[in-house]
Amino acid sequence: MFPNVDFTTTQAYKYLADHYISVNEKSLKQLFEEDPDRFQKFSTQLEDILLDFSKNRITDETFALLIQLAKECQLDKAIDAMFNGEKINKTEGRQVLHTALRNQSNDAVLVDGEDVMPKVNAVLAHMKDFTNRILSGSWKGFTGKEITDVVNIGIGGSDLGPVMVTEALKSYKTRLNLHFVSNVDGTHIAETLKGLNPETTLFLIASKTFTTQETMANAASAKAWFLASGAEQTDVAKHFAALSTNEKGVSEFGIDTENMFEFWDWVGGRYSLWSAIGLSISLGIGFENFEQLLKGAHTADQHFKNTEFERNIPVVLALLGIWYNNFFDAESHAILPYDQYLHRFAAYFQQGDMESNGKYIDRNGNRVDYQTGPIIWGEPGTNGQHAFYQLIHQGTKLIPCDFIAPAISLNPLGNHHQLLLSNFFAQTEALMNGKNEEEVVAELQKAGKSAQEIEALKNFKVFEGNRPTNSFLIKKITPYTLGTLIALYEHKIFVQGVIWNVYSFDQWGVELGKQLANNILPELVDENDVSSHDASTNGLINQYKAWR
Ligand code: F6P
Repeated sequence: MFPNVDFTTTQAYKYLADHYISVNEKSLKQLFEEDPDRFQKFSTQLEDILLDFSKNRITDETFALLIQLAKECQLDKAIDAMFNGEKINKTEGRQVLHTALRNQSNDAVLVDGEDVMPKVNAVLAHMKDFTNRILSGSWKGFTGKEITDVVNIGIGGSDLGPVMVTEALKSYKTRLNLHFVSNVDGTHIAETLKGLNPETTLFLIASKTFTTQETMANAASAKAWFLASGAEQTDVAKHFAALSTNEKGVSEFGIDTENMFEFWDWVGGRYSLWSAIGLSISLGIGFENFEQLLKGAHTADQHFKNTEFERNIPVVLALLGIWYNNFFDAESHAILPYDQYLHRFAAYFQQGDMESNGKYIDRNGNRVDYQTGPIIWGEPGTNGQHAFYQLIHQGTKLIPCDFIAPAISLNPLGNHHQLLLSNFFAQTEALMNGKNEEEVVAELQKAGKSAQEIEALKNFKVFEGNRPTNSFLIKKITPYTLGTLIALYEHKIFVQGVIWNVYSFDQWGVELGKQLANNILPELVDENDVSSHDASTNGLINQYKAWR
């Protein structure tokens, strides 16, 4: 049974609320001075991924209480419920089984009594065959030429995962050039198509529902562009494939269902890169590498399922996030990869996390009286350092950060990687230790400043420090390690959703905007002024009509 516990009523929560007062007075620097074993105690490793969480504002007691919180919230039961295919996405009446897509053990996974592994494997075999035919050049376009370019048309979960992964694994790239079109702004598709040849371009229409307005509009424009090149309707089969759960929608659009790569409603959109939605990944890095990605994720699944909470990376990350979110009132969480290839990692988890846990209604249908999902944001280091780190170091907000870096660079070039990693290590050290007044004064004296100058400057130069960070050090970014890392973050989101007692796998909050846009669309067709909305919306629409 999926548990339903208000975490604020647990004993652990009450203890943590009291305990917070004493921890809040302590600095991280002090904690390290008091306990030289912190790193050994508060770090854990899963194969080639090391998580150091010792630079967090926790003591042994905090950690024990956080673990107790997870236990009181019956996290173990929740994990079993997800893996065992209970319908834990209750508001949509669905299971949550993206783990089955990467179930490399091939053990049966039952959905309504049916083992889904044979159909998961059949789609994977279809993806493998298709990928190999495209890559080998045996698949020909309508004029007999090989495919050179692949355009994935999708949005949200049907875009962000493939974009993030193919960027992250660019150094494993096949001969194909990948393009991604998501925005309904005509600029996105128009600019993408400018450099492409219809004879050698393959479109993947990626949409779980095959009804999403943006994707359908972009797909229709792509088809029109293709047909305008002189291709016949029958040629569409050679240049369009669909990745979807909606067979009817796919054939109505005119895509041969032979070219449809299926997935199922028990795969959430933002958890779908492991499914047929990953076809662009398979084409972009080769099927074997895509399989490695799945294998890596499966390792994370096994770790999550079988590891005691104290060493369980998703559980630890989630509990630390709750500690800051619900006790320190931190509002956001930064993800800061020190790897240029991971430049879309934070953007990917913006959807992953915020669409999952951005909910104010609990699983009983009541408004929560505590904070739920944080604002997720971030950019790669060192760019971020020269942009927004000022606020992380000296701003008034507490921003817990995850730092992520590979030990081995995929582009060893001079001392670039040492420069990069020296910044990676330095930032978490600086955020933790800060720089006190004494140190600032000594520095200014050394620089020959007068007492008056020192007095005027010193407050600006003091860093309080005490800013918490996690550090992920990964041996090397490979399809396998990336798969593991992504799945660890996915499970972190799950754990937080369990503890905040929200439904993490629906997304009703995105519906209202879609509905209203559909109401407004017909009003934009003619030139008449509108008066059916509030004064602001009327004013904006009417000015748009006047200017267009
Ligand atoms: O609007 C949000 C959303 O439903 C996401 O959850 C989803 O990933 C995205 O739209 C795209 O949906 P689809 O794959 O059905 O086109």
